[in-house]
Amino acid sequence: MDELGQLQSEISGQKAGGLLGNIFLIGFMGSGKSTVSACLSEVFSIEAIEMDQLIAKREGKSIPDIFAQHGEAYFRGLETKLLDELSEKRGVVVSCGGGVPMREENVIKMKKNGLVVLLRASPQTILERVRNSHDRPLLEGHKDVSYISGLMEQRREKYEAAADITVSADGRTVREICTELVKKILEMRI
Ligand code: S3P
Repeated sequence: MDELGQLQSEISGQKAGGLLGNIFLIGFMGSGKSTVSACLSEVFSIEAIEMDQLIAKREGKSIPDIFAQHGEAYFRGLETKLLDELSEKRGVVVSCGGGVPMREENVIKMKKNGLVVLLRASPQTILERVRNSHDRPLLEGHKDVSYISGLMEQRREKYEAAADITVSADGRTVREICTELVKKILEMRI
C-alpha cells in the first residue's frame, strides 16, 4: 500500500473524512483541478462538485454557449450565486472555474467554511492540457504559451492571496499531488 492508501485507510470511517469544512480547488484552466478533486473526494469520502459542470447543467447549455449567448458577466454572476450555495455546505470538495478567485466576494465566500487550495502549473503544462479542447472560451484562438503566461500573470496576485495551501502540478502524477495535499489538509485540521 502506498502513502496515499495508508492515509486513506486512516481517514476512512470518519464522517466526511473527519473534515469540518470544505475544500475549494482554484488554479488556472487546465491546472488539473477536476482530477485532483476526484482524488480528494475518494480519499476523504466526500462529495466532489465541479462548478462549471453544475452551472452548465442548470443552464441547460455548455460553458461556450453561455459565454456566447449571455456574455462573460452573466457567467461570472452565476459563479458567485453558486458559491453562495456551496459556502453553506460542509464536507465537499469543489473544483472552481479558473476565474473564481478574481472576485473578492468569491474568495470571502470560499473562506467562510473552507480551505482554499491553489494548484500551480507552468504555461507549458497548461498548453499541453488545453491544446485539444474547445470548452474554454477565453482560450479559443489563443492556445499559445505567451497568451497563457500573460493571463496567468494578470491573475497571479489574486490566486496567491486567496490560497491557504499551494501545490505544484508540474511533472507530477495526480496521486503525488493528492498525497501532498492530503497531508497538508490534515495538518491544518479543517
Ligand atoms: C475560466 C475557466 C473555466 C470556465 C470558463 C472561464 C476562467 O473553468 O469557468 O471557461 O476564466 O479561467 P476551468 O478552470 O475549470 O477550465
